[in-house]
Amino acid sequence: MGNLSRLLKESWTLVEEQQDKVAGYFYARIFLSNPHLRNLFPVTMDVQRARLLGAIVTAVQSLDDPDRFEEYLRQLGRDHRKFHVEPDHYDVVGGALLEALRTFAGESWSIEYDQAWGDAYNVIAKKMIAGAEADTNPAYWHAEVLTHERRSRDIAVITCRPLQYPLEYRAGQYVSVEAPRYQPRLWRTYSMANAPNKEGTIEFHVRALGAGWVSSALVRRVQVGDLLRIAAPMGTMTLDRKSTRDVVCVAGGTGLAPIKALIEELTRYNRTRWVHVFFGAKDRDDLYDLPELNKLAARYPWLSVVPACSDDRNFVGEQGNIGEVLARYGPWGDHDFFVSGSSAMVKNTLRTLAELKVPAVRIKYDTFGDI
Ligand SMILES: Cc1cc2nc3c(=O)[nH]c(=O)nc-3n(C[C@H](O)[C@H](O)[C@H](O)COP(=O)(O)OP(=O)(O)OC[C@H]3O[C@@H](n4cnc5c(N)ncnc54)[C@H](O)[C@@H]3O)c2cc1C
Ligand code: HEM
Repeated sequence: MGNLSRLLKESWTLVEEQQDKVAGYFYARIFLSNPHLRNLFPVTMDVQRARLLGAIVTAVQSLDDPDRFEEYLRQLGRDHRKFHVEPDHYDVVGGALLEALRTFAGESWSIEYDQAWGDAYNVIAKKMIAGAEADTNPAYWHAEVLTHERRSRDIAVITCRPLQYPLEYRAGQYVSVEAPRYQPRLWRTYSMANAPNKEGTIEFHVRALGAGWVSSALVRRVQVGDLLRIAAPMGTMTLDRKSTRDVVCVAGGTGLAPIKALIEELTRYNRTRWVHVFFGAKDRDDLYDLPELNKLAARYPWLSVVPACSDDRNFVGEQGNIGEVLARYGPWGDHDFFVSGSSAMVKNTLRTLAELKVPAVRIKYDTFGDI
Protein backbone atom coordinates (compact mmCIF):
# COMPACT_ATOMS: atom_id res chain seq x y z
CA MET A 1 0.00 0.00 0.00
CA GLY A 2 1.43 3.40 -0.98
CA ASN A 3 1.85 6.20 1.53
CA LEU A 4 -1.08 8.24 0.16
CA SER A 5 -3.32 5.22 0.28
CA ARG A 6 -2.25 4.44 3.86
CA LEU A 7 -2.97 7.99 4.98
CA LEU A 8 -6.40 7.98 3.35
CA LYS A 9 -7.45 4.67 4.83
CA GLU A 10 -5.99 5.41 8.26
CA SER A 11 -7.71 8.80 8.49
CA TRP A 12 -11.05 7.43 7.30
CA THR A 13 -11.14 5.06 10.27
CA LEU A 14 -11.36 8.18 12.50
CA VAL A 15 -14.78 9.08 11.10
CA GLU A 16 -16.04 5.81 9.68
CA GLU A 17 -18.42 5.09 12.54
CA GLN A 18 -20.03 8.50 12.23
CA GLN A 19 -20.66 8.36 8.48
CA ASP A 20 -24.24 9.55 8.78
CA LYS A 21 -23.24 12.64 10.71
CA VAL A 22 -20.33 13.31 8.34
CA ALA A 23 -22.77 13.11 5.41
CA GLY A 24 -25.26 15.42 7.12
CA TYR A 25 -22.57 17.98 7.82
CA PHE A 26 -21.09 17.65 4.31
CA TYR A 27 -24.41 18.38 2.57
CA ALA A 28 -25.31 21.16 5.02
CA ARG A 29 -21.97 22.81 4.29
CA ILE A 30 -22.57 22.64 0.53
CA PHE A 31 -26.14 23.91 0.68
CA LEU A 32 -25.51 26.67 3.22
CA SER A 33 -22.65 28.18 1.28
CA ASN A 34 -24.25 27.58 -2.12
CA PRO A 35 -28.05 27.23 -1.77
CA HIS A 36 -28.54 26.99 -5.53
CA LEU A 37 -26.70 23.64 -5.52
CA ARG A 38 -29.62 22.09 -3.63
CA ASN A 39 -31.52 22.00 -6.94
CA LEU A 40 -28.98 19.60 -8.42
CA PHE A 41 -29.90 16.93 -5.87
CA PRO A 42 -33.02 14.76 -5.60
CA VAL A 43 -36.04 16.29 -3.92
CA THR A 44 -35.99 13.77 -1.08
CA MET A 45 -32.51 12.90 -0.03
CA ASP A 46 -33.22 10.56 2.86
CA VAL A 47 -33.17 7.37 0.77
CA GLN A 48 -29.55 7.62 -0.21
CA ARG A 49 -28.43 10.35 2.06
CA ALA A 50 -24.78 9.51 1.68
CA ARG A 51 -24.76 8.79 -2.05
CA LEU A 52 -22.42 11.53 -3.24
CA LEU A 53 -20.24 11.48 -0.12
CA GLY A 54 -20.00 7.68 -0.27
CA ALA A 55 -19.08 7.87 -3.96
CA ILE A 56 -16.34 10.42 -3.37
CA VAL A 57 -14.89 8.49 -0.44
CA THR A 58 -14.83 5.30 -2.51
CA ALA A 59 -13.17 7.11 -5.42
CA VAL A 60 -10.58 8.76 -3.20
CA GLN A 61 -9.80 5.50 -1.43
CA SER A 62 -9.35 3.69 -4.74
CA LEU A 63 -6.71 6.11 -5.85
CA ASP A 64 -3.72 3.80 -5.60
CA ASP A 65 -3.29 4.01 -9.32
CA PRO A 66 -5.07 7.07 -10.76
CA ASP A 67 -4.17 6.16 -14.33
CA ARG A 68 -6.06 2.90 -14.03
CA PHE A 69 -9.15 4.96 -13.22
CA GLU A 70 -8.47 7.59 -15.85
CA GLU A 71 -11.14 6.43 -18.26
CA TYR A 72 -13.72 5.78 -15.51
CA LEU A 73 -13.19 9.25 -14.03
CA ARG A 74 -13.39 10.95 -17.42
CA GLN A 75 -16.65 9.11 -18.08
CA LEU A 76 -17.94 9.99 -14.61
CA GLY A 77 -17.18 13.66 -15.26
CA ARG A 78 -18.99 13.49 -18.58
CA ASP A 79 -21.89 11.76 -16.90
CA HIS A 80 -22.06 14.42 -14.15
CA ARG A 81 -23.17 16.99 -16.69
CA LYS A 82 -26.62 15.39 -16.35
CA PHE A 83 -26.75 16.88 -12.81
CA HIS A 84 -25.81 20.31 -14.24
CA VAL A 85 -22.50 20.15 -12.42
CA GLU A 86 -20.11 22.98 -13.42
CA PRO A 87 -16.31 22.97 -12.94
CA ASP A 88 -16.41 25.48 -10.04
CA HIS A 89 -18.75 23.19 -8.06
CA TYR A 90 -15.84 20.82 -7.53
CA ASP A 91 -14.10 23.28 -5.20
CA VAL A 92 -17.28 23.73 -3.16
CA VAL A 93 -17.74 19.97 -2.76
CA GLY A 94 -14.02 19.37 -2.06
CA GLY A 95 -14.04 22.12 0.59
CA ALA A 96 -17.13 20.65 2.28
CA LEU A 97 -15.55 17.19 2.26
CA LEU A 98 -12.43 18.39 4.07
CA GLU A 99 -14.45 20.45 6.55
CA ALA A 100 -16.65 17.47 7.37
CA LEU A 101 -13.66 15.17 7.88
CA ARG A 102 -11.80 17.68 10.06
CA THR A 103 -14.86 18.31 12.19
CA PHE A 104 -15.65 14.69 12.97
CA ALA A 105 -12.11 13.33 13.23
CA GLY A 106 -11.45 15.85 15.99
CA GLU A 107 -8.01 16.10 17.50
CA SER A 108 -6.59 13.06 15.79
CA TRP A 109 -6.81 14.79 12.43
CA SER A 110 -3.43 15.94 11.13
CA ILE A 111 -2.08 18.24 8.46
CA GLU A 112 -0.79 15.17 6.63
CA TYR A 113 -4.32 13.72 6.43
CA ASP A 114 -5.63 17.04 5.23
CA GLN A 115 -3.02 17.17 2.49
CA ALA A 116 -3.69 13.56 1.44
CA TRP A 117 -7.48 14.07 1.06
CA GLY A 118 -7.02 17.42 -0.66
CA ASP A 119 -4.49 16.00 -3.14
CA ALA A 120 -6.50 12.88 -3.89
CA TYR A 121 -9.74 14.81 -4.35
CA ASN A 122 -8.04 17.30 -6.67
CA VAL A 123 -6.55 14.57 -8.88
CA ILE A 124 -10.01 13.04 -9.28
CA ALA A 125 -11.81 16.34 -9.79
CA LYS A 126 -9.29 17.37 -12.47
CA LYS A 127 -9.86 14.17 -14.43
CA MET A 128 -13.65 14.48 -14.13
CA ILE A 129 -13.60 18.12 -15.26
CA ALA A 130 -11.32 17.25 -18.20
CA GLY A 131 -13.68 14.44 -19.21
CA ALA A 132 -16.69 16.76 -19.09
CA GLU A 133 -14.95 19.48 -21.08
CA ALA A 134 -13.79 17.11 -23.79
CA ASP A 135 -17.30 15.80 -24.46
CA THR A 136 -19.11 17.28 -27.42
CA ASN A 137 -22.33 15.35 -26.84
CA PRO A 138 -25.34 16.79 -25.05
CA ALA A 139 -25.44 16.33 -21.25
CA TYR A 140 -28.34 13.93 -21.78
CA TRP A 141 -30.70 12.66 -24.44
CA HIS A 142 -34.50 12.66 -24.31
CA ALA A 143 -35.68 9.21 -25.33
CA GLU A 144 -39.22 8.13 -26.13
CA VAL A 145 -40.42 4.81 -24.76
CA LEU A 146 -41.47 2.63 -27.72
CA THR A 147 -42.32 -0.64 -25.99
CA HIS A 148 -42.76 -1.78 -22.42
CA GLU A 149 -43.15 -5.47 -21.71
CA ARG A 150 -43.48 -7.11 -18.30
CA ARG A 151 -41.49 -10.34 -18.39
CA SER A 152 -41.80 -11.54 -14.81
CA ARG A 153 -43.09 -10.47 -11.39
CA ASP A 154 -40.64 -7.62 -11.24
CA ILE A 155 -38.78 -7.43 -14.55
CA ALA A 156 -39.62 -5.29 -17.58
CA VAL A 157 -37.98 -5.06 -20.99
CA ILE A 158 -38.19 -1.51 -22.32
CA THR A 159 -37.19 -0.14 -25.68
CA CYS A 160 -36.76 3.55 -26.36
CA ARG A 161 -35.29 5.85 -28.98
CA PRO A 162 -33.30 9.03 -28.34
CA LEU A 163 -35.04 11.94 -30.04
CA GLN A 164 -32.58 14.65 -31.05
CA TYR A 165 -29.19 13.08 -31.68
CA PRO A 166 -28.04 9.50 -32.06
CA LEU A 167 -26.53 8.11 -28.88
CA GLU A 168 -23.29 6.37 -29.73
CA TYR A 169 -22.19 3.60 -27.43
CA ARG A 170 -20.53 0.20 -27.45
CA ALA A 171 -22.18 -3.11 -26.63
CA GLY A 172 -21.52 -3.87 -22.93
CA GLN A 173 -21.75 -0.24 -21.78
CA TYR A 174 -24.35 1.34 -19.50
CA VAL A 175 -26.03 4.73 -19.10
CA SER A 176 -27.72 6.69 -16.34
CA VAL A 177 -31.47 6.90 -16.78
CA GLU A 178 -34.00 9.27 -15.26
CA ALA A 179 -37.79 8.89 -15.49
CA PRO A 180 -38.59 12.59 -14.94
CA ARG A 181 -42.35 12.14 -14.96
CA TYR A 182 -42.23 9.79 -11.99
CA GLN A 183 -38.91 10.30 -10.14
CA PRO A 184 -37.37 13.63 -11.10
CA ARG A 185 -33.66 14.11 -10.46
CA LEU A 186 -33.10 10.48 -9.53
CA TRP A 187 -30.72 8.77 -11.91
CA ARG A 188 -29.74 5.11 -11.89
CA THR A 189 -27.51 3.15 -14.23
CA TYR A 190 -28.85 0.52 -16.65
CA SER A 191 -26.97 -1.47 -19.24
CA MET A 192 -27.97 -1.37 -22.88
CA ALA A 193 -29.26 -4.83 -23.76
CA ASN A 194 -28.70 -4.50 -27.49
CA ALA A 195 -25.77 -3.63 -29.73
CA PRO A 196 -26.07 -0.22 -31.46
CA ASN A 197 -28.39 -0.41 -34.48
CA LYS A 198 -29.33 1.74 -37.48
CA GLU A 199 -32.73 2.64 -36.04
CA GLY A 200 -31.05 3.99 -32.91
CA THR A 201 -33.30 2.02 -30.57
CA ILE A 202 -32.05 1.04 -27.14
CA GLU A 203 -33.30 -1.82 -24.99
CA PHE A 204 -33.13 -2.02 -21.19
CA HIS A 205 -33.87 -4.93 -18.87
CA VAL A 206 -34.96 -3.57 -15.52
CA ARG A 207 -35.70 -5.36 -12.27
CA ALA A 208 -37.74 -3.53 -9.64
CA LEU A 209 -36.03 -4.00 -6.30
CA GLY A 210 -38.15 -3.91 -3.16
CA ALA A 211 -38.04 -0.29 -2.10
CA GLY A 212 -36.10 0.79 -5.21
CA TRP A 213 -37.20 4.19 -6.43
CA VAL A 214 -36.15 4.34 -10.04
CA SER A 215 -36.31 0.71 -11.04
CA SER A 216 -39.85 0.28 -9.71
CA ALA A 217 -40.96 3.38 -11.62
CA LEU A 218 -39.39 1.94 -14.78
CA VAL A 219 -41.03 -1.45 -14.28
CA ARG A 220 -44.44 -0.50 -12.85
CA ARG A 221 -45.23 3.03 -13.99
CA VAL A 222 -43.45 3.96 -17.22
CA GLN A 223 -45.68 3.71 -20.30
CA VAL A 224 -45.24 3.75 -24.05
CA GLY A 225 -44.88 7.39 -25.15
CA ASP A 226 -43.21 8.56 -21.90
CA LEU A 227 -39.93 10.42 -22.17
CA LEU A 228 -36.87 9.20 -20.31
CA ARG A 229 -33.58 11.01 -20.00
CA ILE A 230 -30.40 9.12 -20.77
CA ALA A 231 -26.88 10.36 -19.97
CA ALA A 232 -23.50 9.63 -21.54
CA PRO A 233 -22.55 5.97 -22.01
CA MET A 234 -20.04 4.57 -19.56
CA GLY A 235 -18.21 1.34 -18.91
CA THR A 236 -15.42 -0.77 -20.33
CA MET A 237 -17.01 -4.22 -20.40
CA THR A 238 -16.69 -4.28 -24.17
CA LEU A 239 -15.45 -6.85 -26.66
CA ASP A 240 -11.86 -6.91 -27.84
CA ARG A 241 -12.38 -7.60 -31.52
CA LYS A 242 -8.74 -8.58 -31.94
CA SER A 243 -8.94 -11.37 -29.35
CA THR A 244 -9.20 -14.85 -30.81
CA ARG A 245 -9.97 -16.49 -27.48
CA ASP A 246 -13.31 -18.19 -26.89
CA VAL A 247 -15.73 -16.30 -24.70
CA VAL A 248 -17.53 -17.12 -21.44
CA CYS A 249 -20.36 -14.85 -20.31
CA VAL A 250 -21.79 -15.19 -16.81
CA ALA A 251 -25.02 -13.30 -16.10
CA GLY A 252 -27.23 -13.11 -13.03
CA GLY A 253 -30.83 -11.88 -13.50
CA THR A 254 -30.99 -8.60 -15.42
CA GLY A 255 -27.19 -8.74 -15.48
CA LEU A 256 -28.02 -10.49 -18.73
CA ALA A 257 -28.61 -7.08 -20.37
CA PRO A 258 -25.01 -6.16 -21.28
CA ILE A 259 -24.25 -9.82 -22.05
CA LYS A 260 -27.11 -9.86 -24.56
CA ALA A 261 -25.65 -6.74 -26.19
CA LEU A 262 -22.24 -8.43 -26.45
CA ILE A 263 -23.80 -11.55 -27.99
CA GLU A 264 -25.66 -9.38 -30.50
CA GLU A 265 -22.42 -7.68 -31.47
CA LEU A 266 -20.77 -11.08 -31.88
CA THR A 267 -23.57 -12.23 -34.19
CA ARG A 268 -22.46 -9.50 -36.60
CA TYR A 269 -18.90 -10.71 -37.14
CA ASN A 270 -18.07 -13.83 -35.17
CA ARG A 271 -17.38 -17.07 -37.04
CA THR A 272 -14.56 -18.58 -35.06
CA ARG A 273 -15.00 -18.02 -31.34
CA TRP A 274 -17.10 -20.35 -29.17
CA VAL A 275 -19.31 -18.36 -26.85
CA HIS A 276 -20.64 -19.99 -23.67
CA VAL A 277 -23.38 -18.16 -21.78
CA PHE A 278 -24.21 -19.07 -18.17
CA PHE A 279 -27.46 -17.42 -17.16
CA GLY A 280 -28.43 -17.71 -13.49
CA ALA A 281 -31.48 -16.63 -11.55
CA LYS A 282 -33.29 -17.43 -8.36
CA ASP A 283 -36.17 -19.27 -10.03
CA ARG A 284 -37.66 -20.09 -13.41
CA ASP A 285 -39.68 -16.87 -13.47
CA ASP A 286 -36.50 -14.82 -13.23
CA LEU A 287 -34.98 -16.49 -16.30
CA TYR A 288 -37.00 -13.86 -18.12
CA ASP A 289 -35.12 -13.92 -21.42
CA LEU A 290 -34.30 -17.59 -21.78
CA PRO A 291 -36.53 -18.19 -24.84
CA GLU A 292 -34.70 -15.40 -26.70
CA LEU A 293 -31.31 -16.80 -25.72
CA ASN A 294 -32.35 -20.27 -26.83
CA LYS A 295 -33.45 -18.89 -30.20
CA LEU A 296 -30.05 -17.28 -30.67
CA ALA A 297 -28.30 -20.50 -29.68
CA ALA A 298 -30.38 -22.43 -32.24
CA ARG A 299 -29.38 -19.95 -34.94
CA TYR A 300 -25.66 -19.54 -34.17
CA PRO A 301 -23.75 -22.80 -33.83
CA TRP A 302 -20.91 -21.10 -31.89
CA LEU A 303 -23.29 -20.09 -29.09
CA SER A 304 -24.27 -22.30 -26.14
CA VAL A 305 -26.52 -21.36 -23.23
CA VAL A 306 -26.62 -22.95 -19.77
CA PRO A 307 -29.44 -21.66 -17.55
CA ALA A 308 -29.43 -22.35 -13.82
CA CYS A 309 -31.64 -21.67 -10.81
CA SER A 310 -30.31 -21.19 -7.30
CA ASP A 311 -33.64 -21.52 -5.52
CA ASP A 312 -36.10 -23.55 -7.58
CA ARG A 313 -36.03 -27.31 -7.03
CA ASN A 314 -38.61 -27.76 -9.81
CA PHE A 315 -36.38 -26.26 -12.46
CA VAL A 316 -35.23 -28.92 -14.90
CA GLY A 317 -31.63 -27.93 -15.46
CA GLU A 318 -28.60 -26.85 -13.50
CA GLN A 319 -29.11 -26.06 -9.82
CA GLY A 320 -26.98 -23.71 -7.72
CA ASN A 321 -25.28 -20.35 -7.87
CA ILE A 322 -24.13 -19.56 -11.35
CA GLY A 323 -20.48 -19.41 -10.24
CA GLU A 324 -20.69 -23.00 -8.96
CA VAL A 325 -22.45 -24.10 -12.13
CA LEU A 326 -19.72 -22.56 -14.27
CA ALA A 327 -17.11 -24.54 -12.34
CA ARG A 328 -18.87 -27.80 -13.32
CA TYR A 329 -18.05 -27.08 -16.95
CA GLY A 330 -14.74 -26.12 -18.56
CA PRO A 331 -11.80 -26.24 -18.70
CA TRP A 332 -11.67 -22.43 -18.78
CA GLY A 333 -7.94 -21.92 -19.11
CA ASP A 334 -7.89 -19.77 -22.20
CA HIS A 335 -11.09 -17.74 -22.44
CA ASP A 336 -12.20 -14.13 -22.24
CA PHE A 337 -14.72 -13.70 -19.40
CA PHE A 338 -17.59 -11.25 -19.00
CA VAL A 339 -19.45 -11.23 -15.69
CA SER A 340 -22.50 -9.13 -14.87
CA GLY A 341 -25.10 -9.09 -12.10
CA SER A 342 -25.64 -8.23 -8.44
CA SER A 343 -22.57 -7.64 -6.29
CA ALA A 344 -23.08 -10.96 -4.48
CA MET A 345 -23.29 -12.86 -7.77
CA VAL A 346 -20.26 -11.10 -9.27
CA LYS A 347 -18.16 -11.58 -6.12
CA ASN A 348 -19.06 -15.25 -6.01
CA THR A 349 -18.20 -15.75 -9.69
CA LEU A 350 -14.90 -13.85 -9.40
CA ARG A 351 -13.97 -16.08 -6.46
CA THR A 352 -14.70 -19.19 -8.54
CA LEU A 353 -12.63 -17.84 -11.43
CA ALA A 354 -9.74 -17.08 -9.08
CA GLU A 355 -9.93 -20.68 -7.79
CA LEU A 356 -9.88 -21.89 -11.38
CA LYS A 357 -6.71 -19.80 -11.85
CA VAL A 358 -8.20 -17.61 -14.57
CA PRO A 359 -5.90 -14.58 -14.91
CA ALA A 360 -7.64 -11.37 -13.78
CA VAL A 361 -6.69 -9.58 -17.02
CA ARG A 362 -9.03 -11.89 -18.94
CA ILE A 363 -12.05 -10.95 -16.83
CA LYS A 364 -14.27 -7.94 -17.41
CA TYR A 365 -17.17 -7.37 -15.06
CA ASP A 366 -19.88 -4.93 -14.05
CA THR A 367 -21.68 -5.11 -10.73
CA PHE A 368 -25.16 -3.73 -10.12
CA GLY A 369 -24.04 -2.44 -6.74
CA ASP A 370 -20.92 -1.93 -4.67
CA ILE A 371 -18.43 -4.74 -4.67
C1 LIG B 1 -22.96 -0.51 -14.02
C2 LIG B 1 -24.36 -0.84 -13.59
C3 LIG B 1 -25.27 -1.35 -14.50
C4 LIG B 1 -26.57 -1.67 -14.11
N1 LIG B 1 -27.42 -2.21 -15.02
C5 LIG B 1 -28.66 -2.59 -14.61
C6 LIG B 1 -29.56 -3.22 -15.54
O1 LIG B 1 -29.24 -3.39 -16.73
N2 LIG B 1 -30.78 -3.60 -15.07
C7 LIG B 1 -31.15 -3.44 -13.76
O2 LIG B 1 -32.26 -3.85 -13.40
N3 LIG B 1 -30.33 -2.82 -12.88
C8 LIG B 1 -29.10 -2.39 -13.27
N4 LIG B 1 -28.26 -1.78 -12.37
C9 LIG B 1 -28.78 -1.49 -11.00
C10 LIG B 1 -29.51 -0.14 -11.01
O3 LIG B 1 -28.63 0.91 -11.35
C11 LIG B 1 -30.07 0.25 -9.65
O4 LIG B 1 -29.09 0.18 -8.67
C12 LIG B 1 -31.20 -0.61 -9.22
O5 LIG B 1 -32.18 -0.62 -10.24
C13 LIG B 1 -31.81 -0.07 -7.94
O6 LIG B 1 -32.22 1.28 -8.13
P1 LIG B 1 -33.50 1.84 -7.43
O7 LIG B 1 -33.59 3.29 -7.65
O8 LIG B 1 -34.65 1.05 -7.84
O9 LIG B 1 -33.17 1.54 -5.91
P2 LIG B 1 -32.65 2.57 -4.82
O10 LIG B 1 -33.69 3.60 -4.59
O11 LIG B 1 -31.28 3.00 -5.18
O12 LIG B 1 -32.56 1.63 -3.56
C14 LIG B 1 -33.70 1.41 -2.76
C15 LIG B 1 -33.49 0.25 -1.84
O13 LIG B 1 -33.18 -0.93 -2.57
C16 LIG B 1 -31.97 -1.48 -2.11
N5 LIG B 1 -31.17 -1.93 -3.26
C17 LIG B 1 -30.65 -1.14 -4.21
N6 LIG B 1 -29.97 -1.89 -5.11
C18 LIG B 1 -30.08 -3.17 -4.68
C19 LIG B 1 -29.62 -4.42 -5.19
N7 LIG B 1 -28.88 -4.50 -6.31
N8 LIG B 1 -29.96 -5.55 -4.51
C20 LIG B 1 -30.70 -5.48 -3.38
N9 LIG B 1 -31.16 -4.34 -2.85
C21 LIG B 1 -30.86 -3.21 -3.49
C22 LIG B 1 -31.24 -0.37 -1.41
O14 LIG B 1 -30.41 -0.83 -0.39
C23 LIG B 1 -32.35 0.48 -0.89
O15 LIG B 1 -32.76 0.05 0.36
C24 LIG B 1 -26.98 -1.45 -12.76
C25 LIG B 1 -26.08 -0.89 -11.85
C26 LIG B 1 -24.78 -0.60 -12.24
C27 LIG B 1 -23.84 0.00 -11.24
C1 HEM C 1 -14.33 13.88 -6.83
C2 HEM C 1 -15.48 14.37 -7.23
C3 HEM C 1 -16.75 13.55 -7.41
C4 HEM C 1 -16.93 12.19 -7.50
C5 HEM C 1 -15.88 11.07 -7.44
C6 HEM C 1 -18.35 11.97 -7.68
C7 HEM C 1 -18.93 10.73 -7.85
C8 HEM C 1 -20.29 10.50 -7.87
C9 HEM C 1 -20.91 9.20 -8.05
C10 HEM C 1 -20.15 7.88 -8.33
C11 HEM C 1 -22.25 9.37 -7.91
C12 HEM C 1 -23.32 8.28 -7.99
C13 HEM C 1 -23.57 7.95 -9.42
C14 HEM C 1 -24.77 8.57 -10.00
O1 HEM C 1 -25.79 8.71 -9.31
O2 HEM C 1 -24.72 8.83 -11.22
C15 HEM C 1 -22.49 10.78 -7.71
C16 HEM C 1 -23.72 11.33 -7.58
C17 HEM C 1 -23.94 12.70 -7.57
N1 HEM C 1 -22.99 13.70 -7.69
FE1 HEM C 1 -21.02 13.45 -7.76
N2 HEM C 1 -19.00 13.17 -7.69
C18 HEM C 1 -18.07 14.17 -7.54
C19 HEM C 1 -18.29 15.53 -7.50
C20 HEM C 1 -19.52 16.12 -7.60
C21 HEM C 1 -19.76 17.54 -7.61
C22 HEM C 1 -18.68 18.61 -7.56
C23 HEM C 1 -21.10 17.72 -7.69
C24 HEM C 1 -21.81 19.05 -7.73
C25 HEM C 1 -22.50 19.51 -6.76
C26 HEM C 1 -21.71 16.40 -7.72
C27 HEM C 1 -23.06 16.14 -7.78
C28 HEM C 1 -23.64 14.91 -7.69
C29 HEM C 1 -25.08 14.68 -7.58
C30 HEM C 1 -26.16 15.74 -7.57
C31 HEM C 1 -25.25 13.30 -7.48
C32 HEM C 1 -26.58 12.55 -7.29
C33 HEM C 1 -26.78 12.36 -5.83
C34 HEM C 1 -28.05 11.61 -5.48
O3 HEM C 1 -28.66 10.96 -6.33
O4 HEM C 1 -28.37 11.67 -4.29
N3 HEM C 1 -20.73 15.46 -7.67
N4 HEM C 1 -21.27 11.43 -7.68
